[in-house]
Amino acid sequence: MNVCFVTSECVPFAKTGGLADVSSSLPIVLSQKGHKIKLVMPLYDSISVLDYGFFKASELDRTEIVMGQESIPIDVWYGHLLGSSVEVYLIDCPRFYHRGRIYTDDNDEADRFILLQHAAFVIMQRYNFSPDIIHSNDWQTALMPAMLKYHYNWDRLFSTTRTVLSIHNLAYQGLTHPDFTFRAGLPRELADNGGLFEWSNSFSFLKTGILTADKLSTVSPTYAREIQTDSFGEGLDGLLRMRSDSLRGILNGIDTEIWNPSTDPFIPNHFDENDLSGKVACRLALSKELGLSLDANEPLMGIVSRFASQKGFDLLVVIFKDLMKYSNLRFAILGSGDAFYENYFEQMSKEYPGRVVLYKGFNEGLAHRIEAASDMFLMPSYYEPCGLNQMYSLRYGTIPIVHKTGGLADTVFDADEFPMLGTGFSFWNATPDVLKDTIFRALDWFESKKKWKTLQFRGMTQDFSWTKSADEYVDMYQSAVVTAI
Ligand code: ADP
Ligand code: GLC
Repeated sequence: MNVCFVTSECVPFAKTGGLADVSSSLPIVLSQKGHKIKLVMPLYDSISVLDYGFFKASELDRTEIVMGQESIPIDVWYGHLLGSSVEVYLIDCPRFYHRGRIYTDDNDEADRFILLQHAAFVIMQRYNFSPDIIHSNDWQTALMPAMLKYHYNWDRLFSTTRTVLSIHNLAYQGLTHPDFTFRAGLPRELADNGGLFEWSNSFSFLKTGILTADKLSTVSPTYAREIQTDSFGEGLDGLLRMRSDSLRGILNGIDTEIWNPSTDPFIPNHFDENDLSGKVACRLALSKELGLSLDANEPLMGIVSRFASQKGFDLLVVIFKDLMKYSNLRFAILGSGDAFYENYFEQMSKEYPGRVVLYKGFNEGLAHRIEAASDMFLMPSYYEPCGLNQMYSLRYGTIPIVHKTGGLADTVFDADEFPMLGTGFSFWNATPDVLKDTIFRALDWFESKKKWKTLQFRGMTQDFSWTKSADEYVDMYQSAVVTAI
């Protein structure tokens, strides 16, 4: 099939979270299965095109993108994704993408991603590429199904094109002023109060996508069910229930080459499920790197995360001092975001020198080294559409401790609840006390090296590759092609 995959972030070019990992690993596997993928994303100022051997698509120099009354010139850089046959088109528009960040709170945030979506259509037109599927991801690209129906429907190139919207996180909806409909080429009245594209007196990118895409997916079966309920639906659960026949939950896979403890170039020693001595060496090396005091019996808990309320760290804050008092836990924390958590963990690292370390910021290599070195990995998220770190942890023999929600519930099985299958520790009620009990349960297991090794082995031998999930995407694409709404 011909697929145009449009995204706001993608490894290795630009990343703030799991969307970037999925936008890279899924298209690569689809291309290996014989599908022809064109991937379109912005050329942010942080991306150095020459590092990737990209070149300027000179036939697209100064291509004018019409947005309402205005015409905005772009250039396009072209190359392949990580040596695969996925073709990547980076949209070069300094006015929009040279902001020092991927996402902003600027007044023209909506414009930045409307431009991306128009540019994707224009690239397909220029190359006469007739996609079977346009695959949008999250609010930033959720207008494409509507743009196809209302603005590009005259073009026969797209006469058989169908649309898929993957929801990676329902909480981010892209709410903006209704006037932005003009920029996207959509009817203004649909974003007025009571209109199909209106939500909370705003023009909602995500609602527009939910109502106009031929097929919808989200990134785990449990999250697909959760978002159809009042508690997780972010106000859109009614619409999602309405569209439930077209909505699937497809569990994310992971890139098993990038996240492979026996070859990972970011970690100092390699290991696998049969020989964990390299993991012990990684532990030592990380202690040195971060200044942790850590012996073989002192458990190391890793955290690598965006600090956002979704991630549930307020539960940890309530019990943190108790954990430090009643256990010999060490914490290696990597993250950034909400200043409250940055400051809190920084303060804890001062209060417990050698036991708690915080690296504030984004650091790809350190994320791998924390995964490799830690004994346990904490993800108490209130909701988690899929979550990738728990799968990376399992692969690296690092036992995840998670709230049973979304993809965490689908990938981690509690060791006490499932004695023969358990791979980690999980809890239903997201309260500080329950989290504390769960961590202490894990610490009890850690005391027995033999039991711990069994858990590690089970986790490390699970298959989280894309093979099965990519087939489910293909199945969804095929069902979109045969059944248009
Ligand atoms: P989300 O997309 O909600 O942030 P995921 O678990 O799906 O959650 O993906 C997070 C991804 O971002 C993982 O690959 C994780 O390793 C990475 N990550 C998060 N924070 C950092 C950080 N501070 N430094 C490096 N990598 C990070
Ligand atoms: C979102 C979700 C996360 C998911 C990722 C990739 O950022 O918060 O749970 O793993 O997208 O789909």
